[in-house]
Parts: sequence; C-alpha cells; structure tokens
Amino acid sequence: MEKLDFKNKKIFVIGGYGLIGNAVANLLSYNGAEVFILEQNKLKVNNFNFCKFKITDQLSSIEKNLEKIFKTHGVPHGMINCSYPKNKLWSKSSFKNIKPSGFNENIDLHLKSYTWIAKLFAEKMKLKKIKGKIVQLTSIYGILGQDLEVYKNTRMDENIIYPLIKGGISSFTKQLASYFGKHQISINNLCPGGVLENRKNKKKQENNFLNNYKKKVPFKRLAKNEEIAKVAVFLLSNYSDYITGQDIIVDGGWSII
Ligand SMILES: NC(=O)c1ccc[n+]([C@@H]2O[C@H](COP(=O)([O-])OP(=O)(O)OC[C@H]3O[C@@H](n4cnc5c(N)ncnc54)[C@H](O)[C@@H]3O)[C@@H](O)[C@H]2O)c1
Repeated sequence: MEKLDFKNKKIFVIGGYGLIGNAVANLLSYNGAEVFILEQNKLKVNNFNFCKFKITDQLSSIEKNLEKIFKTHGVPHGMINCSYPKNKLWSKSSFKNIKPSGFNENIDLHLKSYTWIAKLFAEKMKLKKIKGKIVQLTSIYGILGQDLEVYKNTRMDENIIYPLIKGGISSFTKQLASYFGKHQISINNLCPGGVLENRKNKKKQENNFLNNYKKKVPFKRLAKNEEIAKVAVFLLSNYSDYITGQDIIVDGGWSII
C-alpha cells in the first residue's frame, strides 16, 4: 500500500500568491512537498521559496527565464499553473463591450502563456526522465458556456473570452497528454466552479451574484479555495498516477443539472 507521498518532490506553483494558488502551495507544503512559488513580485512576508517569473512576457523570454530557473533550482516533479493573467480591458469583455484589442491581448496573455509554459515543462521533464505531473487551472467555463442568469441584478457581466481561453487550454492539455504519455508525464485540467472570495483586503462577491449562483448548484454554495487545493494536491501526487488528459471538474454539481 502506498501513502500520499511528496518526499523529495519539488513542485512549482505559478501564481502561488493568488486565492487558489496560495491554498495549493500551503497544502502541498503541509504534505511534505518542496514548494516554489513563481510570481512577478516577491511578497515581503512569505514562507515559500520564490522565483521571479512573469508569465505574460514574450514566449521567447519565458523560455529563457524558465531555463535560468531550472538551472538554479532544478526541474521539478510537478508544476501547477494557478495564475490569472489579464489586462485592463478584461472587465470589458462582454458581448456588448468587447473590442478587438481586448480580445487579442487577453488571449495572448492567458491562452498562449498557459499552453506554451506547459509545453516547456513537459519537454524538460522528458529530457530529465522525470515522470512529472502538470496541472492547468481551467474552469467549468472551459467546458460549458456561461449561464447569464447568475449576473442578473449585479454589476457583473459575462466574459466572452474566458470560455475561449479555458477551452483552448483544455484542448491543448489533451494534445500534450497524448504526446508525452509514453514518458509517463501526466497533464490534467483542474476545472473549478465559482470560488468564494475569502481574502482580507479583497472585495467580497456581490450578494446578488452569490444568491443567483447558489440557486444553480446542488451544493447551494460556492467552493472554498481549500476544496480546490485538495484536488490539485491529488493530481500532483502519486495517487493520480493513471490519470492524464482529463478535465477534473470540482463544481459542487453545477455541471450535472
Ligand atoms: N477564483 C475563481 O472563482 C476561479 C474559478 C474557476 C477557475 N479559476 C481559475 O483559477 C486560476 C486562479 O484563480 P484565482 O482566483 O486564484 O486568481 P487570483 O487573481 O487570486 O491569483 C492569480 C495569481 O496570478 C498571479 N499573476 C497574474 N499575472 C501574472 C503574471 N503575468 N505573471 C506571474 N504571475 C501572475 C497574480 O499575482 C496572482 O497571485 C485562474 O486561472 C482562474 O481562471 C478561478
């Protein structure tokens, strides 16, 4: 019998200071992994190893920067991308408001970076003969269209690029999983439903949104960030050894009704 085992396992958490990323980093560390957070700027108070890394750089710079990180810290056993890159036009991405520039740039910032980075990690794991694990944070909206009812009587709008980006990441995961499968490198999508914003100094989600959302989901609530982190840890661990190329949905039942 095998225990959940992160002994001597190095895991990179891209976007590890965020709502989900931080919960993932904490739970990995609690389970014995050596965690490295890859973010644009270092936080003053932080317990984790840190590597400066901006995922929205040009793809060629990303490649060079990652190479430097691998040289200094080695190639990890696992990588999870929890970043949320976007520009100022992100909130103007509804059907009515979207402009070509916002459409173009946000696809570059999010879809291209997530997919290219996963490819680079998989190649490097293969080169170093590491049976590595890669997890991409996508969303139920990488699989489903958005239900506009949840934005009723709120200041929020649907976002027409989000499903496109997350769906693109999700498809590319399957392609990478197929390509790298024979090297026992796994890559999966973790697809959360809405997560409750529970950070200090952050605006809570609007009450009308929360109430609309609850009506749509069998569990009658949004997810806690730790509930997403638990599945991330599973996917990065030896307990998920025969899973690859999958969309792992964690949504309190949103997608089943
Ligand atoms: N929060 C939710 O409700 C939810 C639901 C489903 C899916 N997701 C997905 O999960 C992921 C994480 O979401 P979150 O809510 O934790 O986001 P968040 O905004 O709380 O955290 C994102 C992190 O990414 C980092 N980041 C942003 N741009 C970066 C860049 N250019 N280079 C390096 N780091 C950068 C930020 O510093 C931040 O720490 C996202 O991909 C999001 O689409 C979130």
